[in-house]
Amino acid sequence: MHISPVSPARPREAPGWLLDEPFEETSLGTLKSGKEAEVFLIERRYAGGSTVLLAHKRYRPRRPAKGELRALGFQHSTAFRNASVYQAGWFFSSRDRRAVETHTAHGNEVIERMWPIQEMAMLQRAWTAGASVPYPVERTDDGVLMEFIGDMEQAAPRLAQARLTTGEVAAAWKQMLESLRALTAAGLVHGDLSAYNLLWWRDRLVLIDLPQAVEFTTNTDAPELLHRDLGNVAAWFGPRGVAVDVESVFAELLGLAW
Ligand SMILES: Nc1ncnc2c1ncn2[C@@H]1O[C@H](COP(=O)(O)OP(=O)(O)OP(=O)(O)O)[C@@H](O)[C@H]1O
Ligand SMILES: [Mg+2]
Repeated sequence: MHISPVSPARPREAPGWLLDEPFEETSLGTLKSGKEAEVFLIERRYAGGSTVLLAHKRYRPRRPAKGELRALGFQHSTAFRNASVYQAGWFFSSRDRRAVETHTAHGNEVIERMWPIQEMAMLQRAWTAGASVPYPVERTDDGVLMEFIGDMEQAAPRLAQARLTTGEVAAAWKQMLESLRALTAAGLVHGDLSAYNLLWWRDRLVLIDLPQAVEFTTNTDAPELLHRDLGNVAAWFGPRGVAVDVESVFAELLGLAW
């Protein structure tokens, strides 16, 4: 199989809609409420008159005081993902690592602080590598402000809910492979890839939800997570006419990673 690693000759430029002008932001409310985070729609109005929509993904406090979630604007409480497999490559001081391993209150705070940091870092690396991800605008205290995929009328549907023609499914798979190649060539595995963390918008496939992404160099589970990611996407594409040979794609991607 012909392999074309994505290595941008020059740094990938920030999108043109991101202006170097003063701005004001208004929250237009909750867009989606996920297991651990809520995504808010933000309108940013630039002094020059133009307006962009942004998505603000905010992680909920893990152990909120009574009333705290509502006071912070969240609508739901949190269901935790089994996270330890993703944390192998995270850097902690020995004190913090002990606290994390023994699940003390301090350990939980350390982990809570890490998710937004991880998501911003992984989005930046994925973006720089040339993968199709929302442009990461900035990290905030409890989350990440990023490109909103959608328009004034609607947010992009998740691939699991989108209705694609046969031609669009083929195009989506081609884009899926390009993003996977870009990510693995940059040493990264998404780690929670499925039709639920892929958006489809105006012929563009976008990978979202990257806080758990891992590196080949620091996480020995990376190959297994990549294999699982491939299985998940193959399970969506297969019945829609793209027979994915998971093992051969896996082998190709591993070749890029090493
Ligand atoms: N940049 C974005 N543009 C448009 N919609 C987005 C964006 N980011 C997230 N969403 C929407 O918000 C939902 C939740 O986001 P995400 O998957 O990152 O968070 P999560 O808390 O892990 O959610 P879940 O538990 O559903 O996986 C997504 O399924 C998607 O519908
Ligand atoms: Mg998600």
